Amino acid sequence: MSATPAPRSRVVVLKGGRSLERQVSLSSGARVEDALERLGHEVHGLDVGHDLVARLRALAPDAAFIALHGSDGENGTIQEILEILGIPYTGSRISACGRCSDKVLAKHEMVDAGLPTPDFLSFNETAFKELGAAEALPAVEARLGFPLVVKPADQGSALGIKFAADPGAVPAALVAAFSYSEKVILEHFVDGRDLAVSILDGRALPVVEAVPLDEDGYDFAARYTIGRTRFTCPAELDDATTARAQELALAVHDLLGCRHFSRVDLMCDNASGALTVLEVNVIPGLTETSLLPQAADAIGMDFDELIGTMLALALGS
Ligand SMILES: Nc1ncnc2c1ncn2[C@@H]1O[C@H](COP(=O)(O)OP(=O)(O)O)[C@@H](O)[C@H]1O
Ligand SMILES: [Mg+2]
Repeated sequence: MSATPAPRSRVVVLKGGRSLERQVSLSSGARVEDALERLGHEVHGLDVGHDLVARLRALAPDAAFIALHGSDGENGTIQEILEILGIPYTGSRISACGRCSDKVLAKHEMVDAGLPTPDFLSFNETAFKELGAAEALPAVEARLGFPLVVKPADQGSALGIKFAADPGAVPAALVAAFSYSEKVILEHFVDGRDLAVSILDGRALPVVEAVPLDEDGYDFAARYTIGRTRFTCPAELDDATTARAQELALAVHDLLGCRHFSRVDLMCDNASGALTVLEVNVIPGLTETSLLPQAADAIGMDFDELIGTMLALALGS
């Protein structure tokens, strides 16, 4: 990093919105605003709503820092608006956002490219309601085994994810997942460690391991409540596994066309040591407990420097 301070820019921090992850976004956004102010920028926090375009036009910022999570922030909707208005923005462009926010599409891309992701099948609601897909469930269950994971195709923060221990638990898990998304994934359950590798400016940061302290695993409340999940960074892995996790994360980031930064969630199977990729997050969390800031910290990059780097990438400087 250069010692000369970056020139002062007018930056809009996009946060809040209607997503189920609104609170997380407000928390990320507030921290980002503070950091950008400390870095000397002119900062405008914007809770995303009906007046978004009008306010962006009025402010005419040099860049938008996207601190939105969940649907609109990650699926390309906001990126689309920023492209139309010609405002540079942090993170991945529209097509990569579309690929990553649809876990089914992302997983198919990985399979096609020969990159490991847990075996899965997916159904949309039409298949169940109108095409009798429920009849195929026993075959799906036989292929994936139990327990299996049922998750909505397009949510984040473990929303709507259920672990079904036996065939009797699958219908309720499907109903829960369909309440979040019209497409669901049934996925092979990996008995293993929960890892995340953040990518920043073409480089894989140290691996973070999330260790749930609850018996019921990793749920929405646990993820954002300090004390219910313990994070280790760098994760205690042998050098070869660390290197493989970082290589794999970079390969998936590139495969899906991500830009600037992302966070790749992986599992490491306890029995075989095999690594698989669950998903890629184009807008990683930036809260107190979030993983990208922890990974940056592990290479000696504090929060302000991280935010400054993310902004510089958007500005192309
Ligand atoms: N196939 C799986 N096997 C074991 N655990 C899983 C599996 N899929 C998800 N999980 C658990 O649920 C968490 C969230 O899953 P993920 O696919 O990353 O969705 P999101 O983070 O978008 O909610 C993972 O970090 C992991 O702890
Ligand atoms: Mg995840």
